[in-house]
Amino acid sequence: MTNKVTLTRFIIEQQRGLPEASGTFTLLLNNIITACKQIANKVNRGQLIGVLGSAGSENVQGEIQKKLDIITHEIMVNQLNWTGHLAGMASEELDDVITIPANYPKGKYLVLFDPLDGSSNIDVNLAVGTIFSVLRCREGIEPTLDDFLAKGSEQACAGFVLYGPSTMLVLTTGKGVNGFTLDQDIGEFILTHPNMRVPEETSEFAINMSNQRFWEPPVQRYIDECLQGKEGLREKDFNMRWVASFVADVYRILTRGGVFLYPLDNRDPAKPAKLRIMYEANPMAFIIEQAGGLCSTGRERILDIKPTGIHQRVPVVLGSKNEVERIIRYHQDA
Ligand code: F6P
Ligand code: MN
Repeated sequence: MTNKVTLTRFIIEQQRGLPEASGTFTLLLNNIITACKQIANKVNRGQLIGVLGSAGSENVQGEIQKKLDIITHEIMVNQLNWTGHLAGMASEELDDVITIPANYPKGKYLVLFDPLDGSSNIDVNLAVGTIFSVLRCREGIEPTLDDFLAKGSEQACAGFVLYGPSTMLVLTTGKGVNGFTLDQDIGEFILTHPNMRVPEETSEFAINMSNQRFWEPPVQRYIDECLQGKEGLREKDFNMRWVASFVADVYRILTRGGVFLYPLDNRDPAKPAKLRIMYEANPMAFIIEQAGGLCSTGRERILDIKPTGIHQRVPVVLGSKNEVERIIRYHQDA
């Protein structure tokens, strides 16, 4: 590969031909990516630099924060608040939206992020990632909460960086999905997985089976039928995977197909669903749909939901088209 396509080249070439493009978006994306490279470095060095383990605090969701949850949140904020491209930010780790300090100019985008997804996997040395979603905003204003609460279908860009055996960036700006691998030697993301597509057919599902007794009937029915294998109604054997890192489970589905479910459950009435729409469900739904898959709550398309809160949670069913359609049908039957 003597003519590698770097992420910057890829984005600039995509922007050519768009008369309204000013180059700001390329700069913003570069800032997000610089933050992710810094996070990759911290995640990779782990206990050598003492970043593993619990921070001894809770986030807005009442979840125990890891040291790296806080460090990665701060890296994102510090790499993005000065750039002049943003009107504001929101992070899974912080209750309120993040304003741009008064001494910096404000721009026309909002960025929402989960700085370290799958953080229960940090201390056991499994894959984690950063998820981000970019929205357009009225320029030069102090954004209100309502500016952030846009439908997923209004995202300008969504992506995630997976800190796995390779550090990979998966990105969409609404023109398909492309995957880039971080070349550590030159510090650049290189286009290695152009035009990623989710296979329509699959015989692999991802769900946390330990919650089975709490699921609703349509999900019970779907998983039961998968488990019956060749002898059952589906007449084929299914395989199961659950990394418990949304980024890693979605990446697998993007490469070899599958269906992911984090359904409604009745474990805790205060938390009927787990994944957050703004930082997790919306960006992944945009990516999966752009790659030819589907993403639904079982009842409605995720990207059509008008969010009512910045930390709102939603049930998520995403992946290979034919399986997601089947699960939606089971919800309608019920
Ligand atoms: O961010 C929430 C998250 O860690 C996801 O990355 C993952 O898919 C899910 O929670 C795992 O949930 P559980 O621990 O309930 O299996
Ligand atoms: Mn997460």
